[in-house]
Amino acid sequence: MTSWMMNVAFGLFFLLAFTGLFFFVLTRGALLMRGFSSTQNSAKSHVYPLYSEMGLIKLVDFQPIISAILLFQYHALVSKIVTGLSTSSLKNKKVLITSCAFGNVIPRVVDAAVHSGAKQVLIADIIRNELVHAKSKLGQYAGKVAYVEDNATAMTQEPGCADANVIFFLLHELPHDLKEKALQEAGRMLAPGGKLYLAEFHRPEVAVLRGLSWLYFKIFEPFGLALWDTHDPVKCLNAMGGWSCERSTYFFGNFQVVTATKQ
Ligand SMILES: C[S@@+](CC[C@H](N)C(=O)[O-])C[C@H]1O[C@@H](n2cnc3c(N)ncnc32)[C@H](O)[C@@H]1O
Repeated sequence: MTSWMMNVAFGLFFLLAFTGLFFFVLTRGALLMRGFSSTQNSAKSHVYPLYSEMGLIKLVDFQPIISAILLFQYHALVSKIVTGLSTSSLKNKKVLITSCAFGNVIPRVVDAAVHSGAKQVLIADIIRNELVHAKSKLGQYAGKVAYVEDNATAMTQEPGCADANVIFFLLHELPHDLKEKALQEAGRMLAPGGKLYLAEFHRPEVAVLRGLSWLYFKIFEPFGLALWDTHDPVKCLNAMGGWSCERSTYFFGNFQVVTATKQ
């Protein structure tokens, strides 16, 4: 191997190692540290610093990085939700976004909801900085969007207030008991006939991908693996009853969008 090729190989290795360490420190590493501190039992103790510090939020929220983290399936996943909203009659209805997410998912969802006639989009997140950051992307919809600090696992909004509820990659970050509570709350917030749009990881069909994905969860996101079996969202919603679920999977089954209609 020539020396320039070795330099490129070393450069790439260090870039990947640095990126991995950066994300580890701001996700799993932070949760491990919190395990030793007194803040362990607060309602926000599962939330990564990546979502609470404004400097970090702004640093990481860069569309190409966010798309790469979701193996370039981000656009397709958001499009599935947007198509669902665009083909629903939301005239004078309310749309809820339960928890913020990086990238353009929030502007795209708000745009689709407003064009389908929604009178208001309510964005709820447990972290104020996330709401402030989301607001900075939504200037043109100012009169249509409201922001509220609320907990997806114990919502304080009026039951049945929304006709659509979007939850984008929240479940895999919640401890298992809270995953179930978040799904129950998502249902409690919906009016009968309302739809829950849930994007999440899914158990890959291909063994190599399953192995790599398993490793990713073990290192970075310890609460995510349960989505493959014990806390498969469709299984949980069916066990709760009162839902009719459809699931679309993406990238060899690595991701899913569940559209669940409240009966
Ligand atoms: C939904 S996940 C999105 C993760 C994904 N990697 C992304 O950004 O595309 C992160 C968001 O969920 C919020 N969050 C975490 N736990 C929450 C809870 N119990 N209630 C409401 N929001 C919560 C965090 O504050 C953060 O804004």
